[in-house]
Amino acid sequence: MQKVDYNEYLPDAFESLPDGAFLTVQSDGEKNTMTIGWNLVGINWSLPMTLVMVRSSRHTHKLLEEVDEYTISFPLQGQMEEELKFCGSRSGRDHDKFEEQNLQPLEGRQVGTPVIGGCDLYYECEIVYRQHMDPDKIASQAVRDCYPEGDYHTLYFGRILDSYLTE
Ligand SMILES: Cc1cc2nc3c(=O)[nH]c(=O)nc-3n(C[C@H](O)[C@H](O)[C@H](O)COP(=O)(O)O)c2cc1C
Repeated sequence: MQKVDYNEYLPDAFESLPDGAFLTVQSDGEKNTMTIGWNLVGINWSLPMTLVMVRSSRHTHKLLEEVDEYTISFPLQGQMEEELKFCGSRSGRDHDKFEEQNLQPLEGRQVGTPVIGGCDLYYECEIVYRQHMDPDKIASQAVRDCYPEGDYHTLYFGRILDSYLTE
């Protein structure tokens, strides 16, 4: 793996996001991953940071509430399409996605949470701030339209502790 600046491959990461990336979390020995299509990367509190948004109905949400870290694994070349579909439509409540999709967990370099083998770009993050959305603070209809069933997101700001690329 080759260390890269957190923002070095951002255009590639954003281009790949419509297909998805893997958001992985591990709590008490249980690891789970889900597909995400939304992610911000930038500087907050003078620190390189990602922001992922996870609805409270997700199993990932339950696990994220128990720990202080997550990883993001980006397939940048269109690979792992089937795995992204599976992990974006099945819940870790009912499936061991690593087992069923043959996902290869690779040990994190700075965190205890694994990343997913076969991807290209990896972020390891420490959760520094989390907040459940307050529906009363939504200012735009476009955002309101995303929540017909009131399944709001929790925002997780994750300080990027390490970013690297498969060589
Ligand atoms: C392309 C794509 C992007 C997605 N992005 C998000 C997201 O940003 N936040 C979210 O809560 N769910 C998102 N989902 C839905 C979750 O991946 C899906 O509900 C998943 O089954 C949750 O798994 P879990 O219950 O194991 O956490 C996305 C799904 C797809 C296919």
